[in-house]
Amino acid sequence: MEVAILPTPADCGRVVADILAAAVTGRPAAQRTTLGLATGSSPVLAYQELIRRHRDEGLSFAGVRVVLLDEYVGLPDGHPESYRSVIRRELTSHVDIADSDVHAPDGTHPDPLVAAQEYELRIRDAGPVAVQLLGIGANGHIGFNEPGSSLSSVTRVKTLTEETRRDNARFFERPEDVPRHVITQGLGTISRARHLLLTATGTRKAAAVAAAVEGPLTASCPASVLQLHPHATVVVDEEAGAELERADYYRYTLQHKLSHQPY
Ligand code: GLP
Repeated sequence: MEVAILPTPADCGRVVADILAAAVTGRPAAQRTTLGLATGSSPVLAYQELIRRHRDEGLSFAGVRVVLLDEYVGLPDGHPESYRSVIRRELTSHVDIADSDVHAPDGTHPDPLVAAQEYELRIRDAGPVAVQLLGIGANGHIGFNEPGSSLSSVTRVKTLTEETRRDNARFFERPEDVPRHVITQGLGTISRARHLLLTATGTRKAAAVAAAVEGPLTASCPASVLQLHPHATVVVDEEAGAELERADYYRYTLQHKLSHQPY
């Protein structure tokens, strides 16, 4: 696992944007690429940087297909906080990615259990995900895989912890409006991506980041599943990296990266 501790959230956004941009450029025009994207506040600066590069530097997403990590169950179609609406607002409507190329679990399906199975198949059909971007919850969740999630789980319905509902209440008018159920890619589903890219900023994430990177591999910290992956990158600012015991080594490694060694 490579850990990049960078001075500011803006630096993290630039590096995350670099990695996502590299995945979509330099491939034959006809070749499709699947990007796994996350919602929440963690990726926002990276998305703003990608939009800027699209506008000012001609970065194109032609041929890119997007799969989202998760979705709330029961929000009506077009609800501003459904993750499908969020990704449109934060990224895809500002670049050349058509709505029809953005896939998310169907949180409006009459049977969420069926919707989850269908989404797992959709991801398999979309081919390997080139890069899966991830945020991390304060309790160590990725996607909506709450602590206790099987490390080999597939896409399914999960019940949110009250902690996560409280954390996400800031996006809703009233705390009780946060749905109790979600459909999330499983930890096994996420792990099939070729490259896992986790980003976090701020002191609130420091303990979860340390547990994920340096703690035991355990379902109690779902993000620790990154330790099993052959290509995982963690991009954090100084605050989110503050509890990492090997921080000096990660900084040293980054300073001495070979000039042609990619993330
Ligand atoms: C949310 C999402 C996750 C996200 C995480 C952190 O509940 N389901 O995909 O990564 O929690 O959110 P944020 O980036 O807003 O801190």
